[in-house]
Amino acid sequence: MIEQGEGLRHRHLLGLATYEADELELILRTARQFREVLYRRIRRVPTLRGITIVNLFFEPSTRTRISFELAEKRLSADTINFSKSGSSVSKGETLKDTAQNIEAMKVDMAVIRHQSPGAAHFLTQCVDAVVVNAGDGAHEHPTQALLDLLTVSDNFDSFDGLNVSIVGDITHSRVARSNVHALRTLGANVTLCGPRTMMPREVESLGVRVTHRLDEALEGCDVAMALRIQLERQGASLFPTLREYHNTFGIQMDHLERHPDLLIMHPGPVNRGVELASEVVDHERAVILDQVTNGVAVRMAVLYLLSGSVENRTGEDGE
Ligand code: CP
Repeated sequence: MIEQGEGLRHRHLLGLATYEADELELILRTARQFREVLYRRIRRVPTLRGITIVNLFFEPSTRTRISFELAEKRLSADTINFSKSGSSVSKGETLKDTAQNIEAMKVDMAVIRHQSPGAAHFLTQCVDAVVVNAGDGAHEHPTQALLDLLTVSDNFDSFDGLNVSIVGDITHSRVARSNVHALRTLGANVTLCGPRTMMPREVESLGVRVTHRLDEALEGCDVAMALRIQLERQGASLFPTLREYHNTFGIQMDHLERHPDLLIMHPGPVNRGVELASEVVDHERAVILDQVTNGVAVRMAVLYLLSGSVENRTGEDGE
């Protein structure tokens, strides 16, 4: 089913800033092939038999954690799940020691979500395993952006010239950062929209347009990606009230009426009535649950393509 001989130039997936268009397209092509497995009666292929993957989650997650676990099971990998609570991290063990101890049990690949930007990169310096970043602080969330790309490509013929607006707390968003890199690499026009207090300085240097007016961001826009207001990352309140945020930057039904072809996306979890009106979340032009389904396929593709770098990889029969 999956073509042999194609591969990624990268050994790890730490972020999308250094991934080129042909690598992004390979991941999307491979994900479309794996997505077909999810609709079979027996949703399992032997592709990663013999590979052991540890999921290191130092931060809460629903979608990313479950979809990585499902992707690994669908590919027949052996998996171990680590979460910070209940682990020896509470006794003071460092990330390096935790990772090296787990690797000593013979692990081939490590998926990591961590609150610190750069944690995934740091892990590559501590272990030989192939590392996949499942979100590191406000730095990058590459598999989220890849599943967003897959969802966009399900709805549009090409990224070239597509107008995508990302709305919300850009400063604290690893999803925005990964999407800007990937969308720009594939030729889309990206607009970032949010309050001045949530917009990083000199963000235009990434080749994006910046506006602080939602109406301007939605004019001529094909895809609007709303970002979650991350109350847990904000040391100080960056806007007066959630109601005011919703009134100024929340996407509401009248936006859908004024822009009848606009596609609505959100990485989740959604704060209903804040980034999106509740009716917008449930609207047929909101593809939020399609994004979640695509998350499993994209993570299968990433794990499969990176598994080629696993040292001393044996054949399916262990030969
Ligand atoms: N989109 C996303 O990363 O969701 P989780 O935090 O639930 O994994």
